[in-house]
Amino acid sequence: MTCPPLHRPRRLRATGALRAMVAETRVDPAQLVLPVFVQEGIIEPAEITSMPGVRRHTMETLAKTAAEVVELGLGGMMLFGVPSEENKNATGNQAIADDGILNQALRRVRAEVGDATVIMADTCLDEFTTHGHCGVLDKDGRVDNDATLERYAEQAVAQASAGAHMVSPSGMMDGQVGVIREALDSAGFFDVGILAYSAKYASGFYGPFREAVSCSLEGDRRTYQMNPANRREGSYETALDIAEGADMVMVKPAGYYLDIISDVATLSDVPVAAYQVSGEYAMIQAAAQRGWIDQARVLHETVVSILRAGADVVLTYGAMELASALLKRKE
Ligand code: PBG
Repeated sequence: MTCPPLHRPRRLRATGALRAMVAETRVDPAQLVLPVFVQEGIIEPAEITSMPGVRRHTMETLAKTAAEVVELGLGGMMLFGVPSEENKNATGNQAIADDGILNQALRRVRAEVGDATVIMADTCLDEFTTHGHCGVLDKDGRVDNDATLERYAEQAVAQASAGAHMVSPSGMMDGQVGVIREALDSAGFFDVGILAYSAKYASGFYGPFREAVSCSLEGDRRTYQMNPANRREGSYETALDIAEGADMVMVKPAGYYLDIISDVATLSDVPVAAYQVSGEYAMIQAAAQRGWIDQARVLHETVVSILRAGADVVLTYGAMELASALLKRKE
């Protein structure tokens, strides 16, 4: 007779209660952030073909969504503005204007929910520029780093004035966190935080987002976003952002960049966020619609994996669905 095994790890997997007790990673709605789009000049919310279940909101449905975010106990929401075509220009002025769609939306959401959730703003020009780049262009058509920094500083102050709790520079310009911190402080917004997109890669997974914000991008973002081939550089970029005063750092995309999340979690003294981006979400939806995977289960599993890798906070278009499922399980 062969010896029975001395170690039986299966013992702790025998019942749901045992598995729940020893789970190393748990998801709480408070760790989830919902990205939301608000579009100028529409009367009804607009579907986004490549992101089933996600809509571009009117100001009214945005306010309703903010109330639901609070109701579900989500950590926060990240706002993106979609201006009408006639309100785009080469320098993205409507990103800074008080009555620009994103700044209006921030004001509305803050009035609606106050401090009951964390209101974050995308601090970037790409939704507002006719060429679709994240910054302003120089005379040769290249993205001008330092000229863009001046715009970001103004945009961050405008967003803080409109009620954002945190601004989120996502344009990957060198020095953006430092410049924004200085601008916020000079304007007296000492308590407005910076969630820095620190390790943001030039990714094909942003495809559906470009549809969501009607991005008019010519070319690509490879001269400012990072090369997906680079791991060490993710740590370098993150260290720079922390040194410049980032209150939180972010890795993006998330699910295919777990090694980067793990590195960043190890080196970072500040909380780490990860963004499950539009393409990651769309792939889950597309397979689920065909009945090939179980949507709720895979959504949960992907978020658990991102947390397990070391993220503290996850931005996901599935935040509401996941939070509802978690709350139901507790009932
Ligand atoms: C830039 C920005 C982008 C995303 C978030 N902020 C687009 C880009 O960098 O091309 C992508 C988010 C997603 O794909 O879900 N403002």
